[in-house]
Amino acid sequence: MAGLIWILLSACLLGCTSQVSLSGQKNVTAESGRNVTLTCRARKNIQTVEWRRADLGDEYVFLYRDGRKTLVHQHPSFKDRVDLKDKQMKDGDVSLILNNVTINDTGTYECRVVKKGTIGLKLISIIHLHVDPPGSVGLIVGVVVAAAAAALVVAAVAGFVIYRNQKKAKEVRLKPLVIKQSPAAVPTSQCCQ
Ligand SMILES: *[C@@H]1O[C@H](CO)[C@@H](O)[C@H](O)[C@H]1NC(C)=O
Ligand SMILES: *[C@@H]1O[C@H](CO)[C@@H](O)[C@H](O)[C@H]1NC(C)=O
Ligand SMILES: *[C@@H]1O[C@H](CO)[C@@H](O)[C@H](O)[C@H]1NC(C)=O
Ligand SMILES: *[C@@H]1O[C@H](CO)[C@@H](O)[C@H](O)[C@H]1NC(C)=O
Repeated sequence: MAGLIWILLSACLLGCTSQVSLSGQKNVTAESGRNVTLTCRARKNIQTVEWRRADLGDEYVFLYRDGRKTLVHQHPSFKDRVDLKDKQMKDGDVSLILNNVTINDTGTYECRVVKKGTIGLKLISIIHLHVDPPGSVGLIVGVVVAAAAAALVVAAVAGFVIYRNQKKAKEVRLKPLVIKQSPAAVPTSQCCQ
């Protein structure tokens, strides 16, 4: 009987944790080298903030506990690269700034908080971050510029060819006219009568 209650209780707890009111689940794309803000808006009076990435296991991206951030169990790749956007966490803003992102920062970030006077973490937001490799934006811009330049050259050549052909055609049309207008070509019968 106790076992059954335990199972029911566990099921309820699991259900409760998955019944989160997400303020946002979103996709963020960033270029390598940028500083990215991972937004998370909770309520006021925050006691604990936990930022995790699902694939990093027990190590945190960022942890704020007992009134300060703590570096215990922080994943080494985030050392000196993360901080709260607003250190005062005004109005429950616990958004995180991740500096100088690399392709290795691609992943799913989860923000959880514990409100003062409550127990249990509450999942607030999930962010799918995708970081483009360095130079990929530059590459796209380069390709576009090259394509535009090529189009311009083609247009210029085409324009020149058309212009030349028209000029030639005009010359061809003009030549007989010139011949007709020469005094020798005017019949004497139409003159001086
Ligand atoms: C995020 O991207 C995935 C695919 O990468 C897509 O299925 C999903 O709809 C996107 N979500 C939002 C909120 O844009
Ligand atoms: C990222 O943030 C750091 C520290 O705040 C700053 O020095 C740097 O200029 C920022 N880089 C970009 C690309 O905004
Ligand atoms: C950003 O990260 C790259 C690669 O990890 C590094 O080479 C570069 O020095 C870093 N830039 C800053 C401003 O920290
Ligand atoms: C990404 O991680 C791999 C494996 O840990 C590492 O070899 C590589 O240098 C990292 N790349 C960047 C841009 O930090």
